[in-house]
Amino acid sequence: MKRVLHVSTECYPAAKAGGMGDVVGALPKYFPEQDIQASVVIPRYDLPWFQEQPFVSVYQGLFYLGLEPVQYEILALDSGILGYPFYCVNIPGKFDRNSVYLADNGEGFRDELQRNISFQRAVLHWLNDSGIGFDLVHCHDHQAGLIPFFMKHGYEFKRLRRMPSYLTIHNAAHHGLMPWSARHLLPDFHDNDGGLLEWDSVINSLAAAIKCCWRFSTVSPNYLTEIQDRLPSLNTLLKDEWAKSRGILNGIDTTVWNPRTDPKIKQKLGRSWKQFKGKNRDYTCRELGLDPDLPLFVFIGRLAQQKGADLIPPAIEEVLARGGSANFIILGTGSKDIEAKLQECQQRHDSRVKSLLMYSEDVAHQLYASADFLLMPSRFEPCGLNQMFSMYYGTIPIVRSTGGLIDTVKDIGEKGCGIRFNDATSSDLANAIVRGLMQYADQKGFAKLIRKCAKQDNSWQQSISIYAEEYRMLWSV
Ligand code: GLC
Repeated sequence: MKRVLHVSTECYPAAKAGGMGDVVGALPKYFPEQDIQASVVIPRYDLPWFQEQPFVSVYQGLFYLGLEPVQYEILALDSGILGYPFYCVNIPGKFDRNSVYLADNGEGFRDELQRNISFQRAVLHWLNDSGIGFDLVHCHDHQAGLIPFFMKHGYEFKRLRRMPSYLTIHNAAHHGLMPWSARHLLPDFHDNDGGLLEWDSVINSLAAAIKCCWRFSTVSPNYLTEIQDRLPSLNTLLKDEWAKSRGILNGIDTTVWNPRTDPKIKQKLGRSWKQFKGKNRDYTCRELGLDPDLPLFVFIGRLAQQKGADLIPPAIEEVLARGGSANFIILGTGSKDIEAKLQECQQRHDSRVKSLLMYSEDVAHQLYASADFLLMPSRFEPCGLNQMFSMYYGTIPIVRSTGGLIDTVKDIGEKGCGIRFNDATSSDLANAIVRGLMQYADQKGFAKLIRKCAKQDNSWQQSISIYAEEYRMLWSV
């Protein structure tokens, strides 16, 4: 059995800030079917999950970050709870904090650069020095982006020269930039190779990964085309390296997301979708003081420009002004500005709009089960998982035509089961919501739509065999 190590800064349920956490937490479960064992390594954060789990120390080491000695320890999860081998890197002073990326003020940690480099160095040393013997290293996003370069060119990591590295891009908007003045924090390499780390005169972790990895993927086929065509700064590199690339759609983890067994929802799915949706919506609306007889639209996610969350308050205003009868629940945290606008929106329409400004997996599950429609007005979306969760829970997705949303949601007008719109404007979103209301008015047709959504195959099966094919391609060269 071949062994693959996934290197990431997130892995659900241990640590999650976004969809990458869900994906890294789910993907490894399905590889044994392909005769591949996938393991995961992430930093050890000071989050509740880590405190509750049994770990054993499997390796310890030391390196110098500039002049600072950094002691690290590799811990292995001593239980089968995740269904795959899980490791974490304990680096005291760097990761023992109760948040994955953000400080209390909502901004990135000030020592982000030192943290990113330390994590990657610890993983490289462990792989090289302990002789643990994986057959491939699969890096996720820029946070693991320096690894492919150092496997090939780092003086200290000679044993990793012939080990294939694979990169998956979950979000190409973040590049992990570092000034050249940070070079002394990196492991040693020959000056002649330095160009591979660089893009636009600075160290660019994502660019370095794209150049040095053996092959790479994006989390949907359409997103790959989009970034090759128009990703600011890196599009030309992505075009040059197109022969190494592949768009592989994410799937959803149906052991965590299953309306028939989900322990986080009030009413589980039995024989009747009508009862499932009705009872859950009833419960949620009563809890929040909303009229349970109106159709329910929800938004779940980061309150960020990327997600188009800023378009929601004006779109709601427009729908209500046009006489639309509906409830809206928004769940998420993020930009203070968007949070304030959502709060204002709730104040103006308290009986119709609820802004739940928090992060809660439990509430998210209950909302997917309760809602009639999910709003995803993303400006860009490499894949998007929420539309897949939502369809599986019989909730019609209303999405902007971008990235993976194009690959996963077809419009009703094209024999699909979702609603798509083109422009990232509040009026386009409002029109799409009104289209949703019209669908809802035809209750018989709507019931059919729900069943059609739930039948979409968004499982991991197909994508796992593509990943396995990718790996095998590298093992055969
Ligand atoms: C990032 C992307 C999202 C994708 C997720 C998992 O969060 O923004 O579109 O679904 O990664 O790959």
